[in-house]
Amino acid sequence: MTKPLISIEALARRYPAPGGTETTVFENVWLPIAKGEFVCLIGHSGCGKTTILNVLAGLDQPSAGVVIVDGREISGPSLDRAVIFQGHSLLPWMSVMGNIAFAVTSRHPDWPKDKVRAHCQKYIDVVHLTGSEHKKPAELSGGMKQRVGIARALAIEPKMLLMDEPFSALDALTRGSLQDEVRRICTETEQTVFMITHDVDEAMLLADKIVLMTNGPGAKIAEIVENTLPKDRRRTDIHKHDSYYALRNHLLDFLVTRSKTFASEIAGKSYDPRRPPLVRPGETAAAAPPEIAPARAASA
Ligand SMILES: Nc1ncnc2c1ncn2[C@@H]1O[C@H](COP(=O)(O)OP(=O)(O)OP(=O)(O)O)[C@@H](O)[C@H]1O
Ligand SMILES: [Mg+2]
Repeated sequence: MTKPLISIEALARRYPAPGGTETTVFENVWLPIAKGEFVCLIGHSGCGKTTILNVLAGLDQPSAGVVIVDGREISGPSLDRAVIFQGHSLLPWMSVMGNIAFAVTSRHPDWPKDKVRAHCQKYIDVVHLTGSEHKKPAELSGGMKQRVGIARALAIEPKMLLMDEPFSALDALTRGSLQDEVRRICTETEQTVFMITHDVDEAMLLADKIVLMTNGPGAKIAEIVENTLPKDRRRTDIHKHDSYYALRNHLLDFLVTRSKTFASEIAGKSYDPRRPPLVRPGETAAAAPPEIAPARAASA
Protein backbone atom coordinates (compact mmCIF):
# COMPACT_ATOMS: atom_id res chain seq x y z
CA MET A 1 0.00 0.00 0.00
CA THR A 2 1.31 3.47 -0.86
CA LYS A 3 2.14 5.74 2.07
CA PRO A 4 -0.53 8.35 2.83
CA LEU A 5 0.41 12.01 2.51
CA ILE A 6 -1.10 12.70 5.90
CA SER A 7 -1.46 10.26 8.72
CA ILE A 8 -3.44 11.04 11.86
CA GLU A 9 -2.37 8.53 14.48
CA ALA A 10 -3.93 7.80 17.89
CA LEU A 11 -5.08 11.40 18.29
CA ALA A 12 -6.89 12.38 21.51
CA ARG A 13 -7.92 15.64 23.16
CA ARG A 14 -8.75 15.99 26.82
CA TYR A 15 -9.70 18.97 28.93
CA PRO A 16 -9.70 19.35 32.71
CA ALA A 17 -13.19 18.93 34.15
CA PRO A 18 -14.66 19.91 37.55
CA GLY A 19 -13.56 17.79 40.52
CA GLY A 20 -10.06 17.29 39.14
CA THR A 21 -11.29 14.88 36.46
CA GLU A 22 -10.86 15.05 32.71
CA THR A 23 -13.24 15.14 29.77
CA THR A 24 -12.11 13.27 26.69
CA VAL A 25 -13.51 15.05 23.65
CA PHE A 26 -12.25 12.39 21.22
CA GLU A 27 -9.79 9.55 21.45
CA ASN A 28 -7.85 7.08 19.38
CA VAL A 29 -8.57 8.83 16.10
CA TRP A 30 -6.65 7.28 13.21
CA LEU A 31 -7.02 8.52 9.66
CA PRO A 32 -4.79 8.24 6.59
CA ILE A 33 -5.28 10.76 3.79
CA ALA A 34 -3.81 10.06 0.37
CA LYS A 35 -2.37 12.71 -1.93
CA GLY A 36 -5.11 14.31 -4.00
CA GLU A 37 -7.89 12.94 -1.81
CA PHE A 38 -10.84 15.12 -0.76
CA VAL A 39 -11.92 14.09 2.73
CA CYS A 40 -14.98 15.47 4.53
CA LEU A 41 -15.50 15.08 8.26
CA ILE A 42 -19.08 14.95 9.50
CA GLY A 43 -20.29 14.73 13.09
CA HIS A 44 -22.50 16.50 15.57
CA SER A 45 -21.59 19.76 17.25
CA GLY A 46 -18.98 19.35 19.97
CA CYS A 47 -17.51 16.01 18.84
CA GLY A 48 -14.16 17.67 18.18
CA LYS A 49 -14.06 18.35 14.43
CA THR A 50 -12.56 21.85 14.67
CA THR A 51 -10.10 20.60 17.28
CA ILE A 52 -8.86 17.92 14.86
CA LEU A 53 -8.57 20.50 12.06
CA ASN A 54 -6.66 22.85 14.37
CA VAL A 55 -4.27 20.05 15.31
CA LEU A 56 -3.76 19.31 11.59
CA ALA A 57 -3.09 23.02 11.03
CA GLY A 58 -0.60 23.02 13.92
CA LEU A 59 -2.69 25.58 15.81
CA ASP A 60 -3.57 23.22 18.68
CA GLN A 61 -1.72 20.46 20.50
CA PRO A 62 -3.28 17.03 20.97
CA SER A 63 -3.31 15.38 24.40
CA ALA A 64 -2.07 12.20 22.74
CA GLY A 65 -1.12 11.06 19.28
CA VAL A 66 0.62 12.61 16.30
CA VAL A 67 0.02 13.95 12.82
CA ILE A 68 2.55 12.90 10.19
CA VAL A 69 2.78 14.90 6.96
CA ASP A 70 5.02 13.53 4.22
CA GLY A 71 6.79 11.27 6.68
CA ARG A 72 7.44 13.96 9.32
CA GLU A 73 5.61 14.67 12.56
CA ILE A 74 4.19 18.19 12.50
CA SER A 75 5.20 20.55 15.27
CA GLY A 76 3.32 23.78 14.46
CA PRO A 77 1.72 25.81 11.69
CA SER A 78 3.28 25.68 8.24
CA LEU A 79 2.59 27.13 4.81
CA ASP A 80 2.31 23.50 3.70
CA ARG A 81 -1.12 23.48 5.33
CA ALA A 82 -3.44 26.35 4.41
CA VAL A 83 -6.62 26.96 6.40
CA ILE A 84 -9.89 28.43 5.17
CA PHE A 85 -11.96 29.40 8.19
CA GLN A 86 -15.70 29.88 8.42
CA GLY A 87 -15.19 33.64 8.61
CA HIS A 88 -13.01 35.03 5.85
CA SER A 89 -10.18 36.30 8.16
CA LEU A 90 -8.85 38.84 5.63
CA LEU A 91 -6.69 41.82 6.56
CA PRO A 92 -9.19 44.71 6.32
CA TRP A 93 -6.67 47.38 5.33
CA MET A 94 -5.35 45.42 2.36
CA SER A 95 -6.90 45.00 -1.07
CA VAL A 96 -7.84 41.64 -2.59
CA MET A 97 -4.48 41.59 -4.37
CA GLY A 98 -2.71 42.75 -1.19
CA ASN A 99 -4.21 40.01 0.97
CA ILE A 100 -3.22 37.27 -1.46
CA ALA A 101 0.20 38.79 -2.21
CA PHE A 102 0.93 38.96 1.53
CA ALA A 103 0.50 35.18 1.82
CA VAL A 104 2.43 34.46 -1.38
CA THR A 105 5.34 36.66 -0.27
CA SER A 106 5.47 34.80 3.06
CA ARG A 107 5.77 31.58 1.12
CA HIS A 108 8.24 32.91 -1.46
CA PRO A 109 10.16 35.82 0.13
CA ASP A 110 12.66 35.79 -2.74
CA TRP A 111 10.13 36.31 -5.53
CA PRO A 112 10.22 39.72 -7.30
CA LYS A 113 7.05 41.85 -7.13
CA ASP A 114 6.05 41.17 -10.74
CA LYS A 115 6.18 37.43 -10.25
CA VAL A 116 4.11 37.66 -7.04
CA ARG A 117 1.47 39.79 -8.81
CA ALA A 118 1.24 37.45 -11.80
CA HIS A 119 0.92 34.44 -9.52
CA CYS A 120 -1.80 36.14 -7.43
CA GLN A 121 -3.65 37.23 -10.56
CA LYS A 122 -3.85 33.61 -11.71
CA TYR A 123 -5.73 32.64 -8.54
CA ILE A 124 -7.87 35.80 -8.54
CA ASP A 125 -9.00 34.78 -12.04
CA VAL A 126 -9.62 31.19 -10.91
CA VAL A 127 -12.13 32.32 -8.27
CA HIS A 128 -13.71 34.80 -10.71
CA LEU A 129 -12.67 37.98 -8.91
CA THR A 130 -10.99 39.54 -11.95
CA GLY A 131 -11.66 43.29 -11.83
CA SER A 132 -11.90 43.40 -8.01
CA GLU A 133 -8.16 43.25 -7.34
CA HIS A 134 -8.02 46.74 -5.81
CA LYS A 135 -11.08 46.41 -3.56
CA LYS A 136 -10.83 46.21 0.23
CA PRO A 137 -12.73 43.49 2.15
CA ALA A 138 -15.36 46.03 3.30
CA GLU A 139 -16.27 46.61 -0.37
CA LEU A 140 -16.92 42.90 -1.02
CA SER A 141 -19.94 40.66 -0.47
CA GLY A 142 -19.70 37.67 1.89
CA GLY A 143 -19.26 35.27 -1.02
CA MET A 144 -16.56 37.44 -2.57
CA LYS A 145 -14.66 37.61 0.72
CA GLN A 146 -14.83 33.85 1.03
CA ARG A 147 -13.49 33.60 -2.55
CA VAL A 148 -10.50 35.75 -1.58
CA GLY A 149 -9.87 33.36 1.33
CA ILE A 150 -9.98 30.42 -1.08
CA ALA A 151 -7.69 32.17 -3.60
CA ARG A 152 -5.24 33.07 -0.82
CA ALA A 153 -5.13 29.48 0.45
CA LEU A 154 -4.71 28.03 -3.05
CA ALA A 155 -2.09 30.62 -4.09
CA ILE A 156 0.41 29.32 -1.56
CA GLU A 157 0.01 25.91 -3.22
CA PRO A 158 -0.18 24.01 0.05
CA LYS A 159 0.32 20.28 0.44
CA MET A 160 -3.00 20.26 2.21
CA LEU A 161 -6.03 22.52 2.25
CA LEU A 162 -7.94 22.59 5.54
CA MET A 163 -11.48 23.98 5.54
CA ASP A 164 -13.78 24.43 8.53
CA GLU A 165 -17.36 24.80 7.27
CA PRO A 166 -16.16 27.31 4.67
CA PHE A 167 -19.56 27.88 3.05
CA SER A 168 -21.88 27.74 6.05
CA ALA A 169 -22.33 31.50 6.42
CA LEU A 170 -23.29 32.00 2.77
CA ASP A 171 -26.67 32.09 1.05
CA ALA A 172 -27.65 28.95 -0.88
CA LEU A 173 -26.90 30.38 -4.33
CA THR A 174 -23.42 31.63 -3.46
CA ARG A 175 -22.70 28.44 -1.54
CA GLY A 176 -23.62 26.33 -4.57
CA SER A 177 -21.45 28.25 -7.00
CA LEU A 178 -18.48 28.30 -4.59
CA GLN A 179 -18.80 24.56 -4.00
CA ASP A 180 -18.67 24.07 -7.78
CA GLU A 181 -15.56 26.25 -8.02
CA VAL A 182 -13.79 24.48 -5.16
CA ARG A 183 -14.58 21.11 -6.70
CA ARG A 184 -13.31 22.19 -10.11
CA ILE A 185 -10.11 23.71 -8.71
CA CYS A 186 -9.32 20.83 -6.38
CA THR A 187 -9.92 18.24 -9.11
CA GLU A 188 -7.82 20.15 -11.65
CA THR A 189 -4.92 20.71 -9.25
CA GLU A 190 -5.23 17.33 -7.46
CA GLN A 191 -5.33 19.25 -4.20
CA THR A 192 -5.45 17.23 -0.99
CA VAL A 193 -8.31 18.53 1.15
CA PHE A 194 -9.64 18.00 4.67
CA MET A 195 -12.98 19.73 5.14
CA ILE A 196 -15.50 19.89 7.96
CA THR A 197 -19.15 20.19 7.08
CA HIS A 198 -22.57 19.64 8.61
CA ASP A 199 -24.11 19.43 5.16
CA VAL A 200 -24.60 15.91 3.80
CA ASP A 201 -25.28 17.15 0.25
CA GLU A 202 -22.11 19.23 0.28
CA ALA A 203 -20.08 16.20 1.40
CA MET A 204 -21.63 14.02 -1.31
CA LEU A 205 -20.82 16.56 -4.01
CA LEU A 206 -17.26 17.30 -2.93
CA ALA A 207 -15.74 14.39 -1.04
CA ASP A 208 -14.03 11.21 -2.16
CA LYS A 209 -14.33 9.93 1.41
CA ILE A 210 -16.70 10.99 4.18
CA VAL A 211 -15.48 10.36 7.71
CA LEU A 212 -18.26 9.84 10.25
CA MET A 213 -17.60 10.78 13.87
CA THR A 214 -19.68 9.62 16.79
CA ASN A 215 -21.00 12.04 19.37
CA GLY A 216 -18.73 13.21 22.17
CA PRO A 217 -17.48 12.93 24.81
CA GLY A 218 -15.12 10.16 23.84
CA ALA A 219 -15.95 10.61 20.14
CA LYS A 220 -14.36 8.28 17.63
CA ILE A 221 -14.37 7.60 13.93
CA ALA A 222 -17.23 5.21 13.34
CA GLU A 223 -16.81 4.64 9.63
CA ILE A 224 -15.17 5.94 6.52
CA VAL A 225 -17.72 6.13 3.74
CA GLU A 226 -16.44 5.97 0.18
CA ASN A 227 -18.32 8.18 -2.21
CA THR A 228 -19.88 5.76 -4.65
CA LEU A 229 -21.07 8.52 -7.01
CA PRO A 230 -19.15 8.92 -10.28
CA LYS A 231 -16.23 11.37 -10.32
CA ASP A 232 -17.88 13.53 -12.98
CA ARG A 233 -20.95 14.20 -10.82
CA ARG A 234 -22.56 17.60 -11.02
CA ARG A 235 -24.88 19.41 -8.64
CA THR A 236 -27.65 19.45 -11.23
CA ASP A 237 -27.81 15.70 -11.84
CA ILE A 238 -26.23 14.20 -8.73
CA HIS A 239 -29.60 12.81 -7.57
CA LYS A 240 -30.00 10.81 -10.77
CA HIS A 241 -27.14 8.42 -10.02
CA ASP A 242 -28.00 4.91 -8.84
CA SER A 243 -26.23 5.07 -5.50
CA TYR A 244 -27.37 8.61 -4.57
CA TYR A 245 -30.20 7.67 -2.21
CA ALA A 246 -28.37 4.75 -0.61
CA LEU A 247 -25.42 7.04 0.12
CA ARG A 248 -27.55 9.94 1.35
CA ASN A 249 -29.71 7.72 3.55
CA HIS A 250 -26.64 6.07 5.03
CA LEU A 251 -25.15 9.44 6.01
CA LEU A 252 -28.43 10.81 7.38
CA ASP A 253 -29.12 7.61 9.30
CA PHE A 254 -25.72 7.94 10.92
CA LEU A 255 -26.32 11.55 11.93
CA VAL A 256 -29.86 10.96 13.17
CA THR A 257 -29.37 7.65 14.98
CA ARG A 258 -26.09 5.80 14.77
CA SER A 259 -23.86 8.70 15.90
CA LYS A 260 -25.49 8.26 19.35
CA THR A 261 -25.84 4.49 19.41
CA PHE A 262 -22.52 3.52 17.85
CA ALA A 263 -20.99 2.43 21.19
CA SER A 264 -23.76 -0.14 21.73
CA GLU A 265 -23.64 -1.12 18.04
CA ILE A 266 -20.02 -2.25 18.35
CA ALA A 267 -20.34 -3.80 21.82
CA GLY A 268 -19.11 -7.38 21.61
CA LYS A 269 -17.98 -6.92 18.00
CA SER A 270 -14.48 -6.29 16.78
CA TYR A 271 -13.91 -2.60 16.18
CA ASP A 272 -10.38 -1.49 15.50
CA PRO A 273 -9.99 2.30 15.74
CA ARG A 274 -6.84 2.00 13.63
CA ARG A 275 -8.91 0.68 10.76
CA PRO A 276 -12.47 1.97 10.97
CA PRO A 277 -14.80 0.11 8.60
CA LEU A 278 -14.73 1.35 5.01
CA VAL A 279 -18.24 1.25 3.60
CA ARG A 280 -19.59 1.78 0.09
CA PRO A 281 -23.33 2.47 0.38
CA GLY A 282 -25.36 1.53 -2.63
CA GLU A 283 -23.13 -1.26 -3.82
CA THR A 284 -24.82 -3.95 -1.77
CA ALA A 285 -27.88 -2.00 -0.67
CA ALA A 286 -31.39 -2.87 -1.67
CA ALA A 287 -33.62 -0.36 -3.48
CA ALA A 288 -33.98 3.11 -2.00
CA PRO A 289 -36.74 3.54 0.59
CA PRO A 290 -40.06 4.19 -1.16
CA GLU A 291 -40.82 7.54 0.43
CA ILE A 292 -37.91 9.24 -1.28
CA ALA A 293 -37.27 7.01 -4.29
CA PRO A 294 -36.74 9.34 -7.30
CA ALA A 295 -38.28 6.94 -9.84
CA ARG A 296 -41.70 7.27 -8.23
CA ALA A 297 -41.56 11.03 -8.18
CA ALA A 298 -40.50 11.09 -11.82
CA SER A 299 -43.14 8.65 -13.03
CA ALA A 300 -45.96 10.10 -10.92
N1 LIG B 1 -10.63 25.33 26.19
C1 LIG B 1 -11.53 24.37 26.34
N2 LIG B 1 -11.82 23.86 27.56
C2 LIG B 1 -12.71 22.86 27.71
N3 LIG B 1 -13.38 22.29 26.70
C3 LIG B 1 -13.14 22.78 25.47
C4 LIG B 1 -12.21 23.83 25.21
N4 LIG B 1 -12.18 24.07 23.88
C5 LIG B 1 -13.07 23.20 23.33
N5 LIG B 1 -13.64 22.43 24.27
C6 LIG B 1 -14.63 21.37 24.04
O1 LIG B 1 -14.17 20.53 23.03
C7 LIG B 1 -15.28 20.00 22.32
C8 LIG B 1 -14.98 20.00 20.85
O2 LIG B 1 -14.96 21.32 20.36
P1 LIG B 1 -14.86 21.57 18.78
O3 LIG B 1 -14.91 23.04 18.57
O4 LIG B 1 -13.70 20.84 18.23
O5 LIG B 1 -16.22 20.89 18.28
P2 LIG B 1 -16.84 20.80 16.81
O6 LIG B 1 -17.06 19.35 16.52
O7 LIG B 1 -16.02 21.56 15.85
O8 LIG B 1 -18.26 21.49 17.02
P3 LIG B 1 -19.12 22.43 16.02
O9 LIG B 1 -19.76 21.49 15.04
O10 LIG B 1 -20.12 23.05 16.92
O11 LIG B 1 -18.19 23.42 15.39
C9 LIG B 1 -16.50 20.81 22.71
O12 LIG B 1 -17.35 19.99 23.47
C10 LIG B 1 -15.95 21.93 23.54
O13 LIG B 1 -16.79 22.23 24.62
MG1 LIG C 1 -16.37 23.32 14.72
